[in-house]
Parts: sequence; C-alpha cells; structure tokens
Amino acid sequence: MEQQKIVFSGMRPTARLQLGNLLGALDNWVKLQHNYRCFFCVVDLHALTTAYEDTSELQENTYQMVIDWLAAGLDPEKAVIFRQSDVKEHAELHLLLSMFTPLSWLERVPTYKDQIEQLREKNLATYGFLGYPLLMAADILLYRAQAVPVGEDQIPHVEITREIARRFNYLYGTKFFPEPEVLLNKVRLLPGIDGRKMSKSYGNTINMSEPPDSVRKKVSQMITDPGRIRKNDPGNPDVCTVFAFHNVFSPDDVAAVADVCRKGEIGCVQCKKMLADRLTAYLEPIYEKRLALEGRRDYIRDILREGAKRASAVAAETMEQVRAAMNLNL
Ligand code: AMP
Ligand code: TRP
Repeated sequence: MEQQKIVFSGMRPTARLQLGNLLGALDNWVKLQHNYRCFFCVVDLHALTTAYEDTSELQENTYQMVIDWLAAGLDPEKAVIFRQSDVKEHAELHLLLSMFTPLSWLERVPTYKDQIEQLREKNLATYGFLGYPLLMAADILLYRAQAVPVGEDQIPHVEITREIARRFNYLYGTKFFPEPEVLLNKVRLLPGIDGRKMSKSYGNTINMSEPPDSVRKKVSQMITDPGRIRKNDPGNPDVCTVFAFHNVFSPDDVAAVADVCRKGEIGCVQCKKMLADRLTAYLEPIYEKRLALEGRRDYIRDILREGAKRASAVAAETMEQVRAAMNLNL
C-alpha cells in the first residue's frame, strides 16, 4: 500500500480565530484529516516570538483555539492535535538547523521586515523573532511533512523550509527530508469588513465565536462600492466587500446577486441583510458546538496530552536519524 501523505500545519494562540483563519486554512484541515496523516499544532513558542513580554493569555488562548478547531470539525481521532511546547524536539531541531542557516536567508523573508514595521510598539529586534521561519521549518521537517495547508501569506515560510531541507540533505549526504508543498484553500485571502486582509492587527475581523447580533452589526458596517450613492444606482460588485463575502458564503446565488447589483435592483442594505442571514446560519452550528465545549477544559487538556504523545513518538524517531546524520550519536 502506498504510504499516506503527511500533512502538518499550525496556528499561533494569540487571539480568537477569525473567519480568515477558518476559510483560509482551518476549513482545509477539516477536509484533509479524512485522507491524510495530519498533525495540527498549537504553536505557542511562535506566539512567544512577539508576545514574550506578557504571556498571561497564552494558556487561555490555547484552550480557546482548540475549541475553535473542534467546533469547526477537527476530530482528535483522525488528526493529531497537540501543543508545540509539549514536544521538546521542536526546540532541538530548531537549534540544530540554526547551525547551518545563513542569517541572510532569515533577514530576507518578507514577513520579517513587514512585521517589525507593523508591530512597532514591540521590540522585535530579538534572536527569537529572526528565527521565526526556522522554528516553522523545524515544525514541518520534524514530521517529514509533504504538504502544509496555510493561507497565501505563509508561502515564503514554506519556501524557506524547502531550502533548509535541501541544505540539510546536501550537507549530510542524505535524502532524509522531503521538500514540503503549500496547500492553498479555495479562499486564499479573505478581506476584513474594511476591505483590507482580515487580520487582528487591522481591527477588521469577524471572529468564529462572534455572537449573531455582533455579526449583523459588523456586516452592516462593511464597505461597499463607494461610487454607489442612491439605492437605484448601478453598483460594481468587483469592488464591494459584501460581494466578496457573498462569493464565499452564498455560492448558489452569487451570480444573481452580481446581476441585480449591476442593474441597481437591490440596495446595499438589503444585500447586507441577505449576507448577515447567510453568515449567521453558517456560524450557528459552530457557535453551538463552542458553547458545549467551553466548560470542558479537562477534555481539551486530554486531547492535547494524547496528541503530544503521538507527535513525540514520530519526533523522537526523526531526531534519531538527524543526530546520526550529524554524527551526534555514539
Ligand atoms: P495567523 O493568525 O496569521 O497565525 O494565521 C493562521 C492561518 O490562517 C494561516 O494559515 C494564515 O495564512 C491564515 N489566514 C489568516 N488570515 C487570513 C485571511 N484574511 N485570509 C486567508 N487566510 C488567512
Ligand atoms: N507561521 C504560521 C502562521 O502565522 C504558524 C505556523 C508555525 C505554521 N509553524 C507552522 C504553519 C508550521 C504551518 C506549518 O500562521
């Protein structure tokens, strides 16, 4: 039998998940868990690269993130769900890879300078933050994953992982590490309510755990075609955030919505109401599942503990081979 493909991905426990995380990545994870050997990791060490000063929310965010994952449909019987800091091999492999990773490779990763610009209030001139992509490479290579389901903003990180794999294989004369590929979902980038990329740092998110009233309020604030002033003016769906959402959440009548908008036969208020109905219906089962999971901290802790055991078994095996390749065994 052909060996099952290995899939690895992770998210930082820094905030409640938003619809961009769900549509860009998590939705894909839920699909992949049925056919591949999947490892999904709460990357708390990555969260520390930017949130090292105040770590008080780390545990609560970890619980909440796993609750979001389960509410979206991840199944701990199918996928290995675990926390990065529970498997010490992530730190060990990161250290060993750091020995042969040129500084220039890390400095030229586009997210490095971008994030420093965006998070100016934090001091990110740290060793740990520069090493962010290398820690991510260690995550992926530790499981010898072939595929990494993420949103398009993560492509440069997977690219550097491929370069690190190649360098290891070349230096130590082996073919041990495969070069992983990115798996993009149909929605590569979901806009926020202001039309820019949905992201916590822009304050334009709708969270997976957002109550229905709040979803309605946020939809009513969405930016539409600025050229459309009166209700009967013809609109341009291509520049409208509400339409971008219809594209994702109303697949059956997106063509009709575009048509009546172009003809000026539907007003933005009505179009937003339609979207709010769709979105709240879409989120309702997730919301219900979340409520049921909220109080079950022991259950979440057990999932992570069990996941760490399964992940550790694979990680330990990889490290044996890595140490042997580098002559660290006796
Ligand atoms: P982050 O919250 O940046 O750690 O992202 C976690 C995952 O969600 C990554 O795979 C991102 O690529 C994906 N993601 C975050 N925001 C969006 C967005 N607005 N559209 C699509 N994917 C996203
Ligand atoms: N950098 C990723 C993000 O911000 C999170 C992450 C860490 C990750 N390690 C990973 C994603 C390994 C995929 C594979 O979303």
